[in-house]
Amino acid sequence: MPKLSDLLVPAPLRKTPKPGESGVPNQPAPQDLKDNPPERPTDYQRLGQQALEAPIESVAWIDQRLATSGFLTGMLFRKVPKGTNWFYTLGSATMIAFVSQAITGVFLAMFYTPSTTQAYASIAHINNDVFLGQLVHGMHKWGSSVMVILIFLHMGRTFFFGAYKYPRELNWVIGVVLLILTMTMAFTGYLLPFDQRSYWASIVGININGTGPIVGPYLSDFLRAGPELGATTLSRFYAIHMLLVPGAIIALIGAHLYLVMKLGTTAPPWMKMDKPKVAAPVAQLDAGVEGNGAAPSNGSGPA
Ligand code: HEM
Repeated sequence: MPKLSDLLVPAPLRKTPKPGESGVPNQPAPQDLKDNPPERPTDYQRLGQQALEAPIESVAWIDQRLATSGFLTGMLFRKVPKGTNWFYTLGSATMIAFVSQAITGVFLAMFYTPSTTQAYASIAHINNDVFLGQLVHGMHKWGSSVMVILIFLHMGRTFFFGAYKYPRELNWVIGVVLLILTMTMAFTGYLLPFDQRSYWASIVGININGTGPIVGPYLSDFLRAGPELGATTLSRFYAIHMLLVPGAIIALIGAHLYLVMKLGTTAPPWMKMDKPKVAAPVAQLDAGVEGNGAAPSNGSGPA
């Protein structure tokens, strides 16, 4: 059976296999090809072989042009520290929750109307009439809580494992911004159904923002987008929820994961550091030194 890594090399660049390798029989070549001609594959067999190789050939075609296999190999086969455990999956779980929110959100946006008079009716229409509407709406609504819970658990993991320390401070800062953006998504999304609960809860939320020092009043004015919570507020929340914040989250997750790949993950705090494998004994290190500042006895100094 040929190795997958060999198959990934496109046919024209492949090395001719030696006898005994990749299905080539391990026998001496026939003396007389006239008397003993090799069996020729039929057109049907050749077509079948080409069909089998088509997916691999297509992947190889793309890889030759993008040169991604080096990057992917480095990313997928990178070393992880000893002691890596299930808590390290919380970051990826948060990301999956975000992807689920993005996908369900796109389908909701196809039926939602961001208007004070039609928002509630459009959500009722999604829940009652649209095929799988209630499921998709439910996934998005409960998924927002799942993402908030997961992001806090992930932050807790990185904090208690000391992953915020040098050299990962920047990734921690990016994480804090991601946390704020995730909370912003949850807050702006809550107003969108425009029912009694979301209306009054948003007023409370905007007022709480207004109590913040220095920027608080400006922030609440910006969010309200007018003297009272109304149509302009809904449009603003919708734009923030649909365009501004998801874009920023995608960009920051990209930066966050790039740093994770570049710096690697932190070992759990209870793991002890491995001793260097070729530690030279102290006596040996001192061997060439005769007192402080003396020249090393490597043949270059006085005998
Ligand atoms: C949308 C939100 C987020 C996503 C999708 C995300 C994703 C990830 C992933 C996949 C990893 C690598 C695996 C792991 O350690 O779990 C990671 C690592 C890390 N994350 Fe996040 N994260 C998010 C939010 C945060 C937050 C809120 C913080 C902290 C304030 C944070 C700080 C870190 C740090 C410091 C690391 C490095 C961990 C280490 O070296 O062991 N992340 N993140």
